[in-house]
Amino acid sequence: MQSVSKVIIPCAGLGSRLLPLTAVIPKELLPIGKWPAVFHTIQEAFSAGLKEIILVVSAEKKEMIRHAFSSKESLIQVLKNTGKEALVSDVAQLDLQERITLVEQFPLAGLGHAVLAIQKVIKNEPFCIALPDEHLISRPGKKNELEELLACYESTRKSSVSLIDVPKSDVSRYGIADIKSTDSKVKNRVEIKGCVEKPESSQSPSTLALMGRYLLLPDIWPILSEIKPGIGGEIQLTDAIHSLAQKKGLIGHVFQGDRIDIGHFKGYYECVSHYLQN
Ligand code: G1P
Repeated sequence: MQSVSKVIIPCAGLGSRLLPLTAVIPKELLPIGKWPAVFHTIQEAFSAGLKEIILVVSAEKKEMIRHAFSSKESLIQVLKNTGKEALVSDVAQLDLQERITLVEQFPLAGLGHAVLAIQKVIKNEPFCIALPDEHLISRPGKKNELEELLACYESTRKSSVSLIDVPKSDVSRYGIADIKSTDSKVKNRVEIKGCVEKPESSQSPSTLALMGRYLLLPDIWPILSEIKPGIGGEIQLTDAIHSLAQKKGLIGHVFQGDRIDIGHFKGYYECVSHYLQN
């Protein structure tokens, strides 16, 4: 079985729902607790055992994001020279230049297009995708969601996606899964026969939404490179995953922890307040 070591974190989006703030700071660098937002996603990947992080960025954000995770050596020297050694270990964690690759996406033509921009880096191996807007807080002592997908891959050798049950009135904001069956042996695991991006609630096959964590086998590449623009005129990852499910099978894992969409002001401040209280 091929091991999974890489995760794609798409960071090129405009952050329209957080304007005007995101005209100044990329949303991926907004503070959540004492870390930039995307650092939480990176930590989720490291905790799951993934080793290489690929950030898909826009030309405008590239230098700020590169700077965030560049060498912190000179700051660390200043901290040591001024008796602030206690701060060194946190600051040192942000020096991720050896483990992060930045790839530019142009034009910004959708999530499927962002993933396709990485094909040359990933080549022929299975890989994960984690959307940084989806801030996940797993239950204490439980696997994090990327670990859950890695466990699905280990036992089924198939591609998998994370799912969350959403109110019927919200289905048109998400990719929605069409469920084939529930795996009676493994709790919270389902087989998926297809999915549809942002359906009308009357047309939606279920209320289980794709929640921004994916583990995909290389079978996705030929499908993704032939996908035509879908809803919103964008190359939709969900459309490619629909075809993958039909051709090769797809497993869904229903997430059990707390999930906060930090891509809009209400969710962002809810998340900030969660870290203030915990
Ligand atoms: C994207 C995906 C969608 C998924 C959602 C999760 O949509 O296209 O399938 O359900 O992320 O956050 P976006 O939020 O970029 O519109």
